Amino acid sequence: MTFSRSIKIAPSILSADFANFGLECEAIEAQGADWVHVDVMDGHFVPNITFGPATCAAIRPHIKGVMDVHLMIAPVDPYIEAFAQAGADVITAHVEAGPHIHRTLQAIRGAGAKAGVALNPGTPAEHIEYLLDMVDLVCVMTVNPGFGGQKFIHSQVEKVRKLRAMIGDREIHIEIDGGVTPETAPLVVAAGADVLVAGSAVFKGGSVGNPSPYGENIRAIRAASKV
Ligand code: DX5
Ligand code: ZN
Repeated sequence: MTFSRSIKIAPSILSADFANFGLECEAIEAQGADWVHVDVMDGHFVPNITFGPATCAAIRPHIKGVMDVHLMIAPVDPYIEAFAQAGADVITAHVEAGPHIHRTLQAIRGAGAKAGVALNPGTPAEHIEYLLDMVDLVCVMTVNPGFGGQKFIHSQVEKVRKLRAMIGDREIHIEIDGGVTPETAPLVVAAGADVLVAGSAVFKGGSVGNPSPYGENIRAIRAASKV
């Protein structure tokens, strides 16, 4: 993975057909996705359950580019090695998921993956001030984690601006997760984001049998991001 601040669209397979993950990953990449965002939920840290490392390993051969794994689980540390072994390029843990996020981020890099840290909407940017030299990505949650299709929380745009200033010249991606649409994308891009996760806004209207809407949806978000 080489670092660039160009805009990357990362469809979340939370909005894909769960019986068809392999083909869905191939379809979104063929339609222009830059990264594939994989939402792991445990029914404990968030009120929903998705899947774990075995599913990540199974979809890995169907993804040519970056597999971006967002862990909404607590605890995190016992599972890092398994997600790294499953082929995750980026592993993101929540700052709220436990008392030792510093150790968690060390362990992610130690396992050979890029380290991401995610902030819930109620968590201030300053919480990660002393972590910036050990992360490759900061994920700003623009909805409360757990479900796709929620409304974008506008107060987070200011947080993105603050984080962009805190990051300075460091090679750290700012990822936005939740409620990204052609309407909200330009707000966060102008504030300094470069990775846009989008679930419902990418998958709506399409399917593996009819993937062209995925391409239209991705192009609409990309076009709106040229700010
Ligand atoms: C929410 C997940 C998101 C979600 C985004 O907990 O982390 O990745 O799938 O979905 P949309 O784009 O529909 O808000
Ligand atoms: Zn996510």
